[in-house]
Formats: sequence, structure tokens, C-alpha cells
Amino acid sequence: MERRVISTDVMEEDYKIENSLRPRLLCDYIGQTKVKKNLGVFIEAAKARGEALDHVLLYGPPGLGKTTLAGIIANEMDVNLKITSGPAIEKPGEIASILNNLQEGDLLFVDEIHRLNRQVEEVLYPAMEDFVIDIVIGKGASARSIRLDLPRFTLVGATTRAGMLTAPLRDRFGVVHRLEFYTVEELLTIVRRSAQVFQVEIDEAGAMEIARRSRGTPRLANRLLKRVRDFAQVKYDGRITQEVANFALNLLEVDKYGLDNTDRSILMTMIDKFTGGPVGLDTLAASIGEDSGTIEDVYEPYLIQNGFLARTPRGRTVTEKTYQHFGLSPSK
Ligand code: ADE
Repeated sequence: MERRVISTDVMEEDYKIENSLRPRLLCDYIGQTKVKKNLGVFIEAAKARGEALDHVLLYGPPGLGKTTLAGIIANEMDVNLKITSGPAIEKPGEIASILNNLQEGDLLFVDEIHRLNRQVEEVLYPAMEDFVIDIVIGKGASARSIRLDLPRFTLVGATTRAGMLTAPLRDRFGVVHRLEFYTVEELLTIVRRSAQVFQVEIDEAGAMEIARRSRGTPRLANRLLKRVRDFAQVKYDGRITQEVANFALNLLEVDKYGLDNTDRSILMTMIDKFTGGPVGLDTLAASIGEDSGTIEDVYEPYLIQNGFLARTPRGRTVTEKTYQHFGLSPSK
């Protein structure tokens, strides 16, 4: 039988755009070695037993391959993939209907699972644990609850914030993995592979330049590759070299560490307005006009991992490296 990918409207465009670049098999997936090894074993074991894979929770910063992994799991398990997201499911009836329409073994991918509302989440508990849902029929005194059996399915949840998941939901995942930022070497391999998919010629130094400036994130590497390709095509002879990559990435205002305007704005605001910190997250967010959750989930992890920003009990501070990066000296 032909296996299908069914997605709700919110995710569909995003999924399609990146689809041509997404690896379909675990062996083609680059990086995340530990996750890959573990999932490989769990998939093989579940297949050998003829069972659905246990529920999987993937967490970590955006763009590191959570959706790609869900697609690979479905493909390796040879089951349908149904894609939805936390904010897209508003009512308990909607999740009940999604669950009720699954077939035996199907994989349900819920992106941003931390944004499910309480009532929807409560439908998931018995569904995940016992593969049943309770539906209330009628109103008032004549209301009664009926229990529906569900097929054995696998829920793959993705979130940028594992800490925002309620304990009962988190506890129902049998497999929990954190995705890490990619090394430059891993990104280099991804850029080369994507260039092949796009059929654009790229030399080693050009690929290296893009990999180095991709913030440890494949989605960004692929996005930058596309933009550099545009410059190569219009301003040069179509081939991506280090010169083309440098030219394009400088125009795109991505610096040599991959920091973009928002990263720089976060760090420079801390230096200019708060003498380098410590400053509270909400205060910092308000002064740059960015959402504090976005700073915490999207920007901060990379800045912390690369030693530009530190978290202290009294707030965030910049580091010596940050001052050096901007050619400044600490004022304290
Ligand atoms: N494209 C995007 N992410 C990838 C990954 N982790 N491995 C291979 N190709 C990718």
C-alpha cells in the first residue's frame, strides 16, 4: 500500500518547501548520532515484534530536524504520517477526530506540543497510555460517556521547550531525545548534499563558508544556500565559491559566527543599556521589542552554547568573548 503524508494546513507549506531536502532514511540523516543510534534500535525492535513504536518526544531549538526525524520514523516503520501542531488543535473534539481516523501503526506528529491546551491534552492521556478515548454524548442529565478503542499509534511530539510540558504528558513518552546543534563538519556535509539536490556547483571553501555561518542549524544552512545560489546566478557565473558566499552572506548581514541582526541586537543592547548585564529576560525582551519566549527558545541557546551569553541567578550577562567579537572592551 502507498504510504501517505497527511498534514493540516498550518504545517503543509513548510513541510513541502523543505521536503526535497529532507532525507527519507535514518542512514541518510546527518548528525544527531546518539538519537539516530537509539531510534535505529527502537525502530528495528518494534518492527521485529510487529508493534507500533513507543511514543517519542523530540526537543531542542528550531530547525534541527524534529519534523525530518518524524518523517524518517514513519518511512522506516512503513506507516502513514499525519502532521499537526499544538496551536492548530483547539478543541477536544478535534484531537478525538484526528485520533479516531488513524490506522493501525500510524504516526501522529504534533509540532509545538507544549502549546496544546489543557482539555485537548487530557484527551491525549488515555489515548497515549491505553489507546482509548472517552467521548461525552448529550448534555446535562442525559449526558453519557462512551469509550472508543483506538488503533495502536505512535505519537511523535516536538517542542522547543521541554520544560513547558506538563508532567503527565511528558511521562507518557517512552522515548525522549534532545536534539543538539550541528557541528560545522556535519553542516558542511548537509550543504554539499543540498547543493547536489539543487544541482548547483559549489566548491569546498564556498560550502565551508555557508556551513560556518549557519548557527549550527540545518534549516538555516539550507536557507542560506538558496540565497547564496541566487547571488551566484545573478551576480556571478552560477558557481558558489568562497567569494560568492562571503559577498552574499555579508549582504544578508550574517556574520562570521552566523550571528544575525537579532543576535547582535540582543548582545549590543545588553552592552549599551545594561553595562553587559546581569539583566532579566523580560527586561531585555522589552528593550529590544522581541518576545521573551522567542529569545529564550530561538536565540539564546546558540549564544549560550557558543559563549556569547551566560545565564546567572541574577539574569543574563554577556561574556568577554562578546566584547571581543564587537571590538569593544568591558566597561567594568
Ligand atoms: N537536511 C536537513 N537536515 C538534514 C540532516 N540532518 N541530514 C541530512 N540532510 C538534512
